[in-house]
Amino acid sequence: MVRTMTFETLFTPLRIGARVAPNRIMLAPMSVCYGDADGYVTPAQLEHYGRRAQGGAGVVVTENFAVSTAGRQMPRQTLVASDTHLPGLSALAAEIKRHGALALVQLVHAGRYAGPWDVYDQARRLAPSAVPFELTPGRVVTPQEITEAEIEESIEAFAHAAWLCEQAGFDGVHVHAAQGFLISEFFSPRMNHRTDRWGGDFANRVRLAWEVVRAVRERTSPDFVLGVHLLVDELMPGGWSVEDAARLAPLLVEAGAQFLFPVPATFEALRCEPNIGLFSRRGYGIDSTRAIKSTVDVPVVANGVLGDPHDAAAVLERGDADAIGLARPLFVDPDWPSKVAADEIGAIRTCPCDPPTCLRTQLTGAICDHWPPDAVERGHLGYQHP
Ligand SMILES: Cc1cc2nc3c(=O)[nH]c(=O)nc-3n(C[C@H](O)[C@H](O)[C@H](O)COP(=O)(O)O)c2cc1C
Ligand code: SF4
Repeated sequence: MVRTMTFETLFTPLRIGARVAPNRIMLAPMSVCYGDADGYVTPAQLEHYGRRAQGGAGVVVTENFAVSTAGRQMPRQTLVASDTHLPGLSALAAEIKRHGALALVQLVHAGRYAGPWDVYDQARRLAPSAVPFELTPGRVVTPQEITEAEIEESIEAFAHAAWLCEQAGFDGVHVHAAQGFLISEFFSPRMNHRTDRWGGDFANRVRLAWEVVRAVRERTSPDFVLGVHLLVDELMPGGWSVEDAARLAPLLVEAGAQFLFPVPATFEALRCEPNIGLFSRRGYGIDSTRAIKSTVDVPVVANGVLGDPHDAAAVLERGDADAIGLARPLFVDPDWPSKVAADEIGAIRTCPCDPPTCLRTQLTGAICDHWPPDAVERGHLGYQHP
């Protein structure tokens, strides 16, 4: 990679646990749903993630892969649940790592958002409590209260999935405790009305996150990287707050987390004023990220409309975070890191459309409308989505 000094801060190595990322640019998890209907890795995923590593991202985190069928959301979401998934996962890890990036898998249990979306009516959607919510605009559903046995099963599913990822050759996993998926549902007094040891006071509401991190840590080697995608602010009245997240952050580190990736809002909150359009606001996550950074001594990743390299470098220079997570900027231009390193800012492809278009790619497995024409014409490695 050609390097100039202009954005040097982005290109210094970053130690995460026992591993070292070659730079501070992380592909943030972004569901593209190029997996197959049964949850196996496809050639399209090898190309998609390998291409982002080739473009220079120092850490490549996959989109959320489900730890169990009960925790699967999307029709083409990859599953990490049994030995049969190992060959595809191994190929994916190798493809990312051969370009020099650290390869991490984001692991999720979708909780009340489980589906998958094409069989919503049959699905058992698990939540701490049976609190109705708007699943899709105008469609209110009531999830089922998860039993204690199912909670224990979900902890085991995270631990087993992490173990599988290590067997497959990944450098680590990234536990999804945000966006309103299962773990973060437990955080919120709005969603969690339980009166047993999984609900009520702060310690009980964060118990699931803590137990999952502990279980993953115990099931994997000490040098296997463990990150947490942390709901930093629910952005709803009476919900989980930045103060709550700042209190939890050091506990997660104590339990074994080696980096934190704070993100605000649940899907529900994004549909309510004043949060509508949040994903389009420049640097929207910085203030809350800074609040978490001050509580821990492990790397913290900043995210949210940081595709302007000046913004990204400034975040690191101010000490607000240790690394930058980019989702859409690397989706639309995988060569963002190498172009920034070479100070070829004008050559960066930018992200000109609204997130709903982006969501269409997520739901259908289509490609981004703004990828280079040759990639569009090739239909993404010739892989055809029905
Ligand atoms: C289409 C789409 C899919 C996403 N999928 C995930 C996901 O699987 N896991 C996750 O934690 N965040 C997901 N996100 C959120 C991104 O990681 C990121 O927080 C958000 O896009 C803001 O970062 P950006 O401005 O760099 O795109 C997704 C975002 C979009 C637009
Ligand atoms: S250009 Fe549009 S579809 Fe592509 S990443 Fe950006 S928002 Fe998504």
